[in-house]
Amino acid sequence: MSEAGTPPVRLWGGRFEAGPAEALARLSVSVQFDWRLARYDLLASQAHTRVLHRAGLLDDAEAERMLTALAELSRDCQTGDFRPTAMDEDVHTALERGLLERVGSLGGKLRAGRSRNDQIATDLRLYLRDQARTVIARIVELQTALMDQAARHLAEQTPAPGLTHTQHAQPVLLAHQLLAHVQAFARDVARLRDWDKRAAISPLGAGALAGSSLRLDPEAVAAELGFDAPAGNSMDAVADRDFAAEFCFAAALTGVHLSRLGEEVVLWTSREFGWAEIDDAYATGSSIMPQKKNADVAELARGKSGRLIGDLTGLLTMLKGLPLTYNRDLQEDKEPVFDAVDTLLLVLPAMSGLVASMRFRAERLAAEAGAGHALATDLAELLVRRGIAFREAHEAVGHLVVWCEVNDCELGDVSDEDLAKISEHFTPDVRSVLSVPGAIAARDTFGGTAPNRVADQLAALRETVAGDASWAAGSGG
Ligand code: ARG
Repeated sequence: MSEAGTPPVRLWGGRFEAGPAEALARLSVSVQFDWRLARYDLLASQAHTRVLHRAGLLDDAEAERMLTALAELSRDCQTGDFRPTAMDEDVHTALERGLLERVGSLGGKLRAGRSRNDQIATDLRLYLRDQARTVIARIVELQTALMDQAARHLAEQTPAPGLTHTQHAQPVLLAHQLLAHVQAFARDVARLRDWDKRAAISPLGAGALAGSSLRLDPEAVAAELGFDAPAGNSMDAVADRDFAAEFCFAAALTGVHLSRLGEEVVLWTSREFGWAEIDDAYATGSSIMPQKKNADVAELARGKSGRLIGDLTGLLTMLKGLPLTYNRDLQEDKEPVFDAVDTLLLVLPAMSGLVASMRFRAERLAAEAGAGHALATDLAELLVRRGIAFREAHEAVGHLVVWCEVNDCELGDVSDEDLAKISEHFTPDVRSVLSVPGAIAARDTFGGTAPNRVADQLAALRETVAGDASWAAGSGG
């Protein structure tokens, strides 16, 4: 990164007689990771230029030259013509060098009334607010893949074994199970949207910590940068990293939801379950076992949730016990949030592709849906509808299950005679409830697995997801 002949720009050189020790410089440098904030730092600088101009601290010509140079620098950053060097400490130092190279000493006027403390807090908020929208757009794609599979299998009324404790519990529609994941991701999106309201506060104007004696206009800067308002307390403005921690929590919980879906895919595609098959494009093979087809995408989604949780706990641990206001520890806020963003943007598209291209084995699911005496509850509930206490019904059906286990048969296979022997309540007509489609259709309470309820649920989710997509694209309220 070194550019021979360019003197290092230090923002605090005047107070010191000697330059920093090599070890300090190496410890202190953050430009290798905070350079990704350059775009936002430049936007904030443009807004600050206009404020200095309006405060009479830059004349018309100076403001014009400054804005032109900032626009040029911004272009050069995008094309790569301007890059940080090994001598630059952080994104602010690098960009100040770029500005000085373009406008000479005029560049030094931009620092009036602001500090890297309010600058970095602003940059990170701007960056995260943008990234939250990108993350939401990727979550929406995954939700859409899940909803499309759900719609297909709702039309076919594909049943599936509903599990608790990874044991067959009650049959459900496969669509219902797929939509359960969509619901969780919808909450993740709602969390990010709610987070955005608190993130939409501008720290600029706080200066180092106490505000500014110059006639700045924090409201105008906030509005220009798309924030709702300036921070109400300059000390809080430079010290607060709640927004970063909250973002990391939302990311970590999204990661946990991705890991749960990943684990389900691993189970579904195992030979033991045999519910689904992964498309070749999203499966990996083995270097030694030619027959292998592995669900690495799902496993990585599961594994990467560990990183996301680590990003959150690392950040919270760094923040714990810091006194007001800015402390250099806060420089450590960036890598965890960057990693959280990068991880989600890596995992989400892979999971969307995996889900969209996965094939469910409807016959196998149908054969398994009622297995493991999964209709036992339906039988007990039938007896309840006939006026028998649930406790007694539960016990009678329990005896029938034991009888079937011993005789290696299903509930519906027991003869009239044996049924009557097991319990007086078991008249031959009780068999009428022992059907998987019947059991599923009967569960039509709000939020239940009956086809009409699942259809309502899908319609509501489509609407939520469409609203989230348009918010992420910037057209939502
Ligand atoms: N690189 C620093 C950070 O990320 C910028 C703020 C530095 N401020 C200071 N007073 N040293 O936190």
